[in-house]
Amino acid sequence: MFINTAKKYSPQSLSDFIFPNAEAKDTVDAYVLGGEERPLIFHGTNGTGKSLLQRLIPNAIEQRVASLQVVKCADLKSADDIHDLYGRNKYFNRTFTIDGQRFNYIIIEEFFMTNKKMIDALKIELDQTLGTDLTILSTNRFEKIDYGIVSRSIDLELIPCEPNTFFPHAKKMFISEGIVYDDQKLLKTLEVTYTLRRDNRKYYQAIDSLFRTI
Ligand SMILES: Nc1ncnc2c1ncn2[C@@H]1O[C@H](COP(=O)(O)OP(=O)(O)O)[C@@H](O)[C@H]1O
Ligand SMILES: [Mg+2]
Repeated sequence: MFINTAKKYSPQSLSDFIFPNAEAKDTVDAYVLGGEERPLIFHGTNGTGKSLLQRLIPNAIEQRVASLQVVKCADLKSADDIHDLYGRNKYFNRTFTIDGQRFNYIIIEEFFMTNKKMIDALKIELDQTLGTDLTILSTNRFEKIDYGIVSRSIDLELIPCEPNTFFPHAKKMFISEGIVYDDQKLLKTLEVTYTLRRDNRKYYQAIDSLFRTI
């Protein structure tokens, strides 16, 4: 059988997200439950859930599908672009947020900024919008990020889930599809996958392959 498990079984809400460790869970909880409002930087290798969390956290804070401004860092070309990103609602930004949300969300993917003027513009915006806008960055080049930005933020390295951490999620897919499959064999598949590539996406691909043999 053919199933695109990444499409069908990707976490739709934060409660489905597989946290790789307690630190990741605690950090995310601080935003959802604890009122943390500083910018958040997710870093780590590919397929660890950085982009996914950038979208799931706002929904969890708002308890509904949140309005987001999502940009790829490479599409920001100048300091003006940075100010425009934050400045769309400059006048009511200070007191209101879009749709009465707790925050305006600024999601910047593949964050990598070397232009000094842009970095300075971002620092200014992070300071001025603290409390009204929540900026969430993701990057796999954390060590290259300007320290002034790191200093203003909470940073969290997301690591790939270990096989036994991912196992319950994998098992759920089999149960949902009504397929009986040996737990040890399933765990073994996840372990082999983890040995080859430490990337959560690969677990879904391995499960797709298993389904194809059924
Ligand atoms: N921790 C996780 N829990 C569940 N699924 C995950 C997790 N991390 C990655 N995935 C799966 O991998 C896909 C790609 O993850 P993504 O967030 O785009 O990775 P990246 O860290 O490269 O931004 C997600 O859409 C989801 O299907
Ligand atoms: Mg990403």
